Amino acid sequence: MDLKLALRYAALSAMPLLATFCAQAETVHISTPGTSLLLKADKDKELRFYHYGEKLSDTDIKSIMASKASWVNAYAPYGINTRRETAVAATHTDGNMTLDLVVDGVEHDGNTTTISLKDTHYPFFVKLNYRTYPDEDIIEMWSEISHGEKGTVTLSEYASGYIALPYGDVWSSNLYGEWAKEGWLEELPVPHGVKVVKNRDGLRPNHAAHGEVMFSLDGKPQENAGRVVGAALCYPGNFKLRTLNDNSNWIHFFAGINEEHAPYILEKGETFTTPALAVTYSGNGMGDVSRNFHRWGRNYKLAHGNKLRDVLLNSWEGVYFDIKEDEMKQMMQDIASLGGELFVMDDGWFGNKYPRNNNNLGLGDWVVDTSKLPNGIKGLTDAAKKAGVKFGIWIEPEMLDEKSELYEKHPDYIIKAQHRANMPGRGKAQIALDLANPKCQDIVFTIVDTLLTKYPDIAYIKWDANNAMPIHGSQVLPANKQSHNNIEYWRGLSKTLDRIREKHPDVVIQACSSGGGRVNYGFLPWFDEYWTSDNTDALQRVYIQWGTSYFFPAIGMGSHISAAPNHQTGRRTSLKYRTDVAMAGRLGMELQPKDMTDAEKEQTRRAIADYKVIRPVVQLGDLYRLQSPFDKKGAASLMYVTPDKKQAAFFWWKTESMAAEQLHKVPMNGLDPDKIYTVREINRIDNKPLQYEGQAFTGRALMANGLPMPAFHSVDKADATDFSSRVLILEAK
Ligand code: GLA
Repeated sequence: MDLKLALRYAALSAMPLLATFCAQAETVHISTPGTSLLLKADKDKELRFYHYGEKLSDTDIKSIMASKASWVNAYAPYGINTRRETAVAATHTDGNMTLDLVVDGVEHDGNTTTISLKDTHYPFFVKLNYRTYPDEDIIEMWSEISHGEKGTVTLSEYASGYIALPYGDVWSSNLYGEWAKEGWLEELPVPHGVKVVKNRDGLRPNHAAHGEVMFSLDGKPQENAGRVVGAALCYPGNFKLRTLNDNSNWIHFFAGINEEHAPYILEKGETFTTPALAVTYSGNGMGDVSRNFHRWGRNYKLAHGNKLRDVLLNSWEGVYFDIKEDEMKQMMQDIASLGGELFVMDDGWFGNKYPRNNNNLGLGDWVVDTSKLPNGIKGLTDAAKKAGVKFGIWIEPEMLDEKSELYEKHPDYIIKAQHRANMPGRGKAQIALDLANPKCQDIVFTIVDTLLTKYPDIAYIKWDANNAMPIHGSQVLPANKQSHNNIEYWRGLSKTLDRIREKHPDVVIQACSSGGGRVNYGFLPWFDEYWTSDNTDALQRVYIQWGTSYFFPAIGMGSHISAAPNHQTGRRTSLKYRTDVAMAGRLGMELQPKDMTDAEKEQTRRAIADYKVIRPVVQLGDLYRLQSPFDKKGAASLMYVTPDKKQAAFFWWKTESMAAEQLHKVPMNGLDPDKIYTVREINRIDNKPLQYEGQAFTGRALMANGLPMPAFHSVDKADATDFSSRVLILEAK
């Protein structure tokens, strides 16, 4: 370990001591190297929140406490001051609807600080937990609620966490969207009153709204300047983010499960644990906040988050449901010959009585359709081995279709309300299994376990979920706990995923859900990567991937080269452009390679080889966003830089095409100003190299002015296209 690193570790290991010391003084300072959360936990008093954001020194803290700075309740309960927005609300066994929570104690355990609150009259308890991730400057907070009352207590609010921001010109950056338009960015000043961002899909948190937000405290959001707080609710079920701007010194932020229509009946002795809210802060703009989330994502929240991902071909847009053994083999050989490392067979391979030829039947019956695959899955894994690629398979284990043998046997296994008809979704046929039911949990476990045990050569699973939970109802929950159905679904699924991961720790699993419906830190811990969107149109992907990058790292961002015209938008973009956009994430392909010309195949072969050179930079490097597509400047640009600053990959994509357009020169970022970088273009299609090909520049010069990007490619007239793009690799000696 070098000296710098050793000192850093020494400093970090001292942090809990500082927190312990402060707690004895009834000041709780929960901190990471770059951030501070300051609370005051006086016994038998309200827990006070003073600050979250910039790192505070001991002197700063003393001065804040001595100055009688303003504070706010750190987990406001409902009932006694009914005018304020609250974090927790309960109806006691005797019908009393008030809570009066005061501090009972503070404990430290490693990187976790727990503050216990208790009601002044009732045996009602809340534990607020704060866990620090020092290297990533992240603090995770969650609460545990319990009681010792005689009967049940009904929780009608149960936030995961709360922070207050200083009132000012505060803006929020939220993501919103729908199928094929996930991760769309909206940046607005925080309005007065309450702004609610919530989800009611039940199963796909990102279809409508996303559970993450950034707050820029110094006016319009900036990439490299200004105080920014980032927050990600780690929960894939129904969630709610509430921002209250109430004409006070503060802007209040609450996040947690969406409690609407979900009062929780808490038994005596039971502990209700909320999902975690993760927060981070930087005084240097949104870029830093994203990099914190990305490091945290790679180190703690994605499976195998620091292991390079394979280049793959997925069969979906190539053949859709028309799975045939010969064609699967041909696709394997093609991706192998292009330099790819993995072939994934998508939907359409299963079903006996109800062969899966369409999206309205067969889900639930995970038996091979031998009319399509006479040699079964073993035939495919053997063929993949022969072709020299790994093999992956699509499943949608949480779902069934009304036309399935499983449904015929077990109509009692689905999400359903008494006396109501089914509410099928996709294909007017699809319904979710009720994962509150342990038997359904076993079904899901068995689907995955059987595949992986029977076919140990399956290296990758694409785990899909294409339905909402459109009707409220569980066939196993008791009458008084029907309101728990979404919560119990996620508990059941989490347990099942734990079982799967315990037995199959190495398999790579992609989280897919009608495209990017489940890109959420509450779901990702069991998954290696996420399918960003079913929209593979390169131009729209520039936007979708941009928004997604606010919180989620490129290593998990499934990003595929698809055919032209694009299947979602009908747009024709060049193979070069489609490839250059896909190379900014986890590169893959999503087409039938046999439809490509030899020249296209050759171009792709070179591109994949080039991608392998920049793969560690893209997948493990730090992201610097340079020019946003949402700013409509005609082009978008970002780059990845390795932590040692020796290598970088620069991406530039036009987002509109006009003649004689005056394009902004994009200054680079994240480089070492004193290092000298040699610049090379990769995936080049131009007849002549860029004027600076092979030349060397200091990081300072590149970050001051950037490099000029020709608006069009210099190619033969027949090959000219509108949307030009460039990928550069920068290498320092
Ligand atoms: C969803 C996924 C797609 C594909 C299909 C298969 O839409 O997002 O990528 O797997 O299901 O039915």
